[in-house]
Amino acid sequence: MHPFHYLYFVKKRGTRFIPYFLVVAFFAISSLLVGFGKKNYFKGLPADFPEMKIPEGNEITKDRVALGKRLFFDKNLSVNGEVACISCHNPALAFADDQSISGGVEGRFAKRNAPTLTNVGYNPVYLFDGFLTTLEMQALVPIQEHEEMDFNMVELAKRLNQDPSYVKQAQKSYGRNAVDGYVITRALGTYQRTLISYNSKYDLYKKGKRKLSDSEEKGRDLFFNKLHCAQCHSGFNFTNFSTQNNGLYEIYADSGRMRATELESDRALFKIPTLRNIQLTAPYMHDGSISSLKGVIAHYKSGGKNHANKNELIKPFELSDSETQNLIDFLYTLTDWKFIKKHKV
Ligand code: HEC
Ligand code: HEC
Repeated sequence: MHPFHYLYFVKKRGTRFIPYFLVVAFFAISSLLVGFGKKNYFKGLPADFPEMKIPEGNEITKDRVALGKRLFFDKNLSVNGEVACISCHNPALAFADDQSISGGVEGRFAKRNAPTLTNVGYNPVYLFDGFLTTLEMQALVPIQEHEEMDFNMVELAKRLNQDPSYVKQAQKSYGRNAVDGYVITRALGTYQRTLISYNSKYDLYKKGKRKLSDSEEKGRDLFFNKLHCAQCHSGFNFTNFSTQNNGLYEIYADSGRMRATELESDRALFKIPTLRNIQLTAPYMHDGSISSLKGVIAHYKSGGKNHANKNELIKPFELSDSETQNLIDFLYTLTDWKFIKKHKV
């Protein structure tokens, strides 16, 4: 509004209208400040978090998050209505589960251990193969996979469109007249991009807001300085996102990244997992073959099995029982209870 109009109005009607104008002005200015009511999903992140790459046209909005969340929790995404994304990615377990391999439809089992979806929107590559590059593409995998949801997009869209409230949400969030593959993959991607964890004890310690105990401090030193952990589990998300072999077996049942590339040099390489919320995501490794952190550390301590592609950083080291406990105590500081609470169902 032009300021002179306002003055003119006041002159004409008298000062009793001033409070009314103040209220209007307050709402106009505050909605400008919060970007016309847009929620900022990235507010308050630590400085070492990079900018999340978001595909053009799929910017995060409240409506899209709501639709993605609804889909993520909906068992109708599986052929017989038995399994939802949360069946294997349980919010209470940092969006992982407690099985070594997860149960899909009709008692079949997924081929690998369900990973946490903590900070999944930052991953430049997906799955243990480290091959797919967007969450939108990744969403097609579990829906179609025989051992997971065993469904297909066309039939799924037909099913969901029978519910007018889904159609309404598709219109509201993507301006389309029906739920389809475009909407389903993009909404699921959007919801998963909001699963951001940055309030673990260790994050607060880095900000100077919490102190580590003696044991946690010793574990931190082992993790970053004395052992080689932080050379692979590095950076803000405790992974450098590369695929590596950490010597679990001499002969692997799972060919790892080679499954996607067919290159012998990629045999038994697996994407390095984040260690955020690791306390909640046992059992560990691509096949869930190690049931505890103690077991994981024993594995690294032994130097692992010989495999042609084993990374040279994996070699035997000395570690006492109390140092093992120090390392576990440090790993527990990566648990973000605020994140768990926020996404609780
Ligand atoms: C039957 C269990 C199961 C169901 C149901 C399931 N997943 Fe998964 N998910 C897995 C497993 C196992 C992996 C690892 C697969 C691999 O690496 O080949 C995985 C991997 C992922 C990843 C990759 C994470 C990363 O860091 O690379 C994402 C993202 C994901 N799932 C999202 C979803 C979504 C979205 C749904 C629902 C549409 C879903 N999942 C349903 C078991 C499941
Ligand atoms: C050469 C790179 C490398 C080094 C060094 C390394 N890791 Fe790993 N780590 C990996 C890879 C790759 C996996 C996944 C392997 C698989 O699934 O088969 C993994 C898996 C893990 C897991 C299981 C994660 C999960 O969600 O299942 C934990 C815990 C772990 N590492 C902790 C450590 C600790 C502690 C150290 C230091 C003693 C360490 N790592 C050193 C590459 C490495």
